[in-house]
Amino acid sequence: MSDVILETRALSKHFGGLKAVDSVDMSVREGTIHGIIGPNGAGKTTFFNLLTGLIEVTRGAVLFGGRDITGIPPERVAGIGMSRTFQNIKLFRFMTVLDNVKVGFHTRTKTGLLGAVVRNAAFRADETFVAEQGLELLDFVGLRKQAYNLAANLSYGTQRRLEIARALATDPKVLLLDEPAAGMNPSEKSEVMELIRKISSLGRTIVVIEHDMKLIMNLCDVITVLNQGLKICEGTPAEVRNDPDVISAYLGHARGA
Ligand SMILES: Nc1ncnc2c1ncn2[C@@H]1O[C@H](COP(=O)(O)OP(=O)(O)OP(=O)(O)O)[C@@H](O)[C@H]1O
Ligand SMILES: [Mg+2]
Repeated sequence: MSDVILETRALSKHFGGLKAVDSVDMSVREGTIHGIIGPNGAGKTTFFNLLTGLIEVTRGAVLFGGRDITGIPPERVAGIGMSRTFQNIKLFRFMTVLDNVKVGFHTRTKTGLLGAVVRNAAFRADETFVAEQGLELLDFVGLRKQAYNLAANLSYGTQRRLEIARALATDPKVLLLDEPAAGMNPSEKSEVMELIRKISSLGRTIVVIEHDMKLIMNLCDVITVLNQGLKICEGTPAEVRNDPDVISAYLGHARGA
């Protein structure tokens, strides 16, 4: 069995009296595709926000490669090898597709983001490397032809692919995807599924939140189910699909309970 790369211990987030994430223990094994599912409001995005330092942890710990990274500032997350996409797409809408990806690369070139802003000499030396790598990455996600289009002009599904490309530019060991197929039509969904498989086959670990059951069941090695902040089940797709607690959580939600 592969090693655990990402782990949470009793991870919790309270918003006032609301336990959005309630003492969640989760272990993600290196090289796997690990799904997180659960009804709306289950705490999935909040969980990602805790992993990536976007919000303060109420209680518990996050470990990456065995190292305690609880409370890490978000700007240091890429540096340790973790990168994410957002449920509400966060691209630089009025920059080109290629420039969006370049921003990801500059988090790991020696000039960094500041150099990219002031365009100093070190930045210009990096620039050739970054442009080449950026185009290669766009090729990988199938967006090379749109390299010089504005991000704002891409279809919704294509913007989601660009978010994945930008996250990959930081060369993450672990890629966190928050609803990568949301708003996509069936053919875009199967394309994004292929892309996730391709990324995984290159050895990266993927944690994916998704509502599309077919996609998640086909893609994941392990699935964690959250409901009202609590982990209610974890297992293979077949185990999770037949779990009575999971079924009642979803049925309860459908009834508006
Ligand atoms: N900043 C915040 N302040 C207060 N409550 C919040 C905040 N962020 C999230 N919540 C609440 O925490 C709970 C979990 O929200 P979260 O967005 O993590 O759910 P989710 O599982 O990602 O849902 P969805 O499937 O709809 O994206 C919800 O009740 C939500 O309203
Ligand atoms: Mg969410």
